[in-house]
Amino acid sequence: MEKKTLSSIKYPINIAVFASGTGSNFRVFIEKIESGDLKNARIVAVISNNSKSGALNLAKSRGIPSYHISTYTHPDPEDYEQALFKCLKSRGADMIILAGYMKLLPPSLIQAYPNRIINIHPALLPRFGGNGMYGKNVHEAVIRSGAKESGVTIHYVNAQYDEGPIIARSKVPILPEDTPESLAERVLKAEHDLYWRVVDRLINKPSRSY
Ligand code: GRF
Repeated sequence: MEKKTLSSIKYPINIAVFASGTGSNFRVFIEKIESGDLKNARIVAVISNNSKSGALNLAKSRGIPSYHISTYTHPDPEDYEQALFKCLKSRGADMIILAGYMKLLPPSLIQAYPNRIINIHPALLPRFGGNGMYGKNVHEAVIRSGAKESGVTIHYVNAQYDEGPIIARSKVPILPEDTPESLAERVLKAEHDLYWRVVDRLINKPSRSY
């Protein structure tokens, strides 16, 4: 696959979304593209390792090509990798947005999309990231640490969990009465506000990109 930077690719930028869960971040992208707030972008595929994910259902209901690709559908690692590449190539994906994707990407995929794969993490990296730091675990760890604020981090993806260069962060307060659930809710709202704006900047204002 050709190694292009995002700013050298013609509009519209074709986005593949990878998601394992509910898909609320994915939903915001659909809405922002539909409303015209996020221009020059279109979602060409949704890939999930979870056949029952809300994200795949949402894609189906919106007529967005959806793919269940996992180590279950493709037990052989090479087949798995090829299935991902085949899907991305057939859909002409220029950029990959991870939105609650629970698997590490194969290194070959990361190399094929330099600075064109981004992830969202529900805490302020570099703290509270890494293996096992997902879902409720993150918010429990944040509250346990006694931190006064948490937030959202958007970063480029490399071969390690949550370790690629940070693109943007936004903070939310932690209130004394917070539970992991109430904090998760506040953070998710901040995710919905930040993620599409970062993608908008990367696509439409590359001179201001990070
Ligand atoms: C979000 O909290 C995101 O930060 C994390 O997974 C969650 C996905 O939520 N990586 P949703 O599926 O977009 O609702």
